[in-house]
Amino acid sequence: MLDINKIRADFPILKQTVYNKPLIYLDNGATTQKPQVVIDKIIDCYTKINSNIHRGVHFLSEQATLEYENSRLLVKDFLNAASTAEIIFTRGTTEAINLVASSFSERYIKADDQIIVSAMEHHSNIVPWQIVCERKNAVLKVIPMNSSGELMTEKIAELINDKTKIIALTHISNALGTVNPIKNIIELAHAHNIPVLIDAAQSVQHLSIDVQDLDCDFLAFSGHKIYAETGIGILYGKEKWLNEMPPYQGGGDMIKTVSFEKSTWADLPLKFEAGTSNYIGAISLGEAIKYIKNVGINNIYEYEAELLSYATTLLQSIPELKIYGTAEHKASVISFNLKNIHQYDAGTLLDKLGIAVRTGTHCAEPVMQFFGITGTIRASLAFYNTKQEIDALYEGILRIKKKF
Ligand code: ALA
Repeated sequence: MLDINKIRADFPILKQTVYNKPLIYLDNGATTQKPQVVIDKIIDCYTKINSNIHRGVHFLSEQATLEYENSRLLVKDFLNAASTAEIIFTRGTTEAINLVASSFSERYIKADDQIIVSAMEHHSNIVPWQIVCERKNAVLKVIPMNSSGELMTEKIAELINDKTKIIALTHISNALGTVNPIKNIIELAHAHNIPVLIDAAQSVQHLSIDVQDLDCDFLAFSGHKIYAETGIGILYGKEKWLNEMPPYQGGGDMIKTVSFEKSTWADLPLKFEAGTSNYIGAISLGEAIKYIKNVGINNIYEYEAELLSYATTLLQSIPELKIYGTAEHKASVISFNLKNIHQYDAGTLLDKLGIAVRTGTHCAEPVMQFFGITGTIRASLAFYNTKQEIDALYEGILRIKKKF
């Protein structure tokens, strides 16, 4: 199991106090804190090798390019992708999904075609598809969920028809914590020749992902949610799709040749990496992946599962507390409300106790509409959190209850 004290010592921000209270950071779904090795790597890059990648013949540019491409290799191995051609650096999950929505639809979607998403998607896996539907006159369909926050997978077959062009689905709901049975859904979709995009923004940092085993067609995640810098993310895509899809953006690095008559595109993955990318962010992602590999993603999963189960039992013992998202298979997120106390008031009071949680709709308004609420208080866990911190959250909630 994990040596939590040692792990916590790796994250300098966790040592600080806020309002004279030890910081208890339970907003990991929004962004994660960075281990010292990642911070050091970023400083090291700017101190020693900063230079634009793929452009210079000089020493610094070669060093930066080597590190950047090595990060791509680390991501490829982490996801068990077949080749580095399938790993595209983006700004984050949102840009990765927008890339697919824009480029895939340009090639494959026409009027009256259909796109399927689920009832528990983050806005970033709804809105890009709505934009496509408006542009192409296509139709968005939604896999419903039940009151536990589980997808009604038995309904998927009814939604699929010969106009269905893609299914875009979250692996783990950021608002509810539900882990979706994506492998089964991918299998079903493929039986109808429908490709599947997986939003792994809330899963890749919690459980082991093997894109070849899942057989997903696309998968997106963000660096900042997996202990790396902000402004960097990954789109994994099967080569056969990425080769056929047109470029998302034009500019430097994504071309083979340019003339005023006609330009040609670079091979994968650079075809989708126009302009100077966030190469230091990409290098930080490689470093974060090395760190996670060292800790062990399966150790992380087991530890966080225990923490989630502990937190669920404790919070459930408060009669005025209602948890949203009670799926059998959950990870890392507890969303809840307190009777007669607005989530913003509760969040503000918890903050004064040094406890950082997220409040509101969590960029998942349809989930809130489904439950008929305006938002929730969300505690989202990482492997540096402890049972003592969960106890503090529990005590904090009891204090807020008393106050009201
Ligand atoms: N999508 C992030 C969250 O769930 C920001 O908080």
